[in-house]
Amino acid sequence: MKPSADSSEALSPQDALARPLREVRISVTDRCNFRCIYCMPRAHFGKGHVFLSHSDLLTFEEIARLARILHGMGVGKIRITGGEPLLRRDVDQLIAQLAEIGGLELALTTNGVLLPRLAVRLRAAGLRRVTVSLDALDEAIFQRMSDTPLSVRDVLAGIDAAAQAGLQVKVNTVVRRGCNDGEIVPLARHFRGTGHILRFIEFMDAGTTNGWNLAQVVSAQEILDCVRAEFALQALPPNHRGEVARRYAYQDGAGEIGVIASVTQPFCQECTRLRITTDGRLYTCLFAEEGHDVRGLLRAGADDAALREVIAKIWRGREDRYSMLRCAATPLAQNAHRAGMSYLGG
Ligand code: GTP
Ligand code: 5AD
Ligand code: SF4
Ligand code: SF4
Repeated sequence: MKPSADSSEALSPQDALARPLREVRISVTDRCNFRCIYCMPRAHFGKGHVFLSHSDLLTFEEIARLARILHGMGVGKIRITGGEPLLRRDVDQLIAQLAEIGGLELALTTNGVLLPRLAVRLRAAGLRRVTVSLDALDEAIFQRMSDTPLSVRDVLAGIDAAAQAGLQVKVNTVVRRGCNDGEIVPLARHFRGTGHILRFIEFMDAGTTNGWNLAQVVSAQEILDCVRAEFALQALPPNHRGEVARRYAYQDGAGEIGVIASVTQPFCQECTRLRITTDGRLYTCLFAEEGHDVRGLLRAGADDAALREVIAKIWRGREDRYSMLRCAATPLAQNAHRAGMSYLGG
């Protein structure tokens, strides 16, 4: 039977700005064992904070079903996020279920401290790459930014364990002026020559609790200037269309770094990412105020075609380009009801 115009459009939808749906970030828990000051500040995520309960969470089967449907709609890459995704019990079993779909590039973003325990299992389940967040090598700065008694050594041990297990490793550093801008060069020096790609991220106004203001943003240009003062760099072309990081190689062959300039050089035009929260809501932008519930549909027995139509309709209606608008507008909107990184998974 020939597919109707509607169903073929549902197989590869484009949004209102002609962007296809290519990547999905799936958050598997809203909990974390860190309390990074820019993501889960303890004042908001301390004792009184109510986290999602177990029955709220999408099950692995529900996630894998969505992933299969999304793969059929043109998605080639899935990134597992949190909170801290390695806190989700048996998360390697989810990876195995996603790997079984076939043809999906699987990655995971983590703070790294549980990797010594889990890296081998994750690799065996079909994970190929991890991105580990690390904001400083200096212990006091690290502990202040991550608000944890754990040590830089724990994160470095996680990175080593991942590499030893055969996972490709990237390292993410969020740069916040006055906190860790002095760590840019030490981090670059540390990871040069290791094969791990260090990426510096401009501090973003994500969520509503991190007290963001523009003065705290160290621009990608400044970051590159810092690194260049010590090491010669050469721009590299993107690996693929829509790559979030801009790439630079060390001229002496010691590997590459990246900068993610989401504040000063937004990349919304190429944004092909959908986000799924732990409780099964679809967000078409990191800064969206509302998500679209699909857990209700899954649990009400919707069939694949119905789910596909719903997702395609959401995607077709997408006009998001928050970072570009933010960049164009000053002063910046600070009172929005945005969902937050630990819920949306960055
Ligand atoms: P790869 O390029 O596949 O290695 O991964 P990635 O850079 O897409 O994922 P990662 O989790 O490492 O994200 C890096 C940083 O970029 C995080 O701070 C994300 O929040 C940010 N980021 C990723 N996607 C988007 C996006 O769509 N919009 C904005 N504004 N920031 C994003
Ligand atoms: N700005 C930029 N990056 C952030 N991350 C968390 N909060 C912010 C923010 N406000 C980063 C984490 C992780 C990635 C998924 O997002 O450090 O590396
Ligand atoms: Fe946890 Fe990552 Fe948020 Fe830090 S940035 S609190 S490690 S989820
Ligand atoms: Fe995509 Fe929204 Fe980020 Fe722009 S701000 S790149 S639309 S997630």
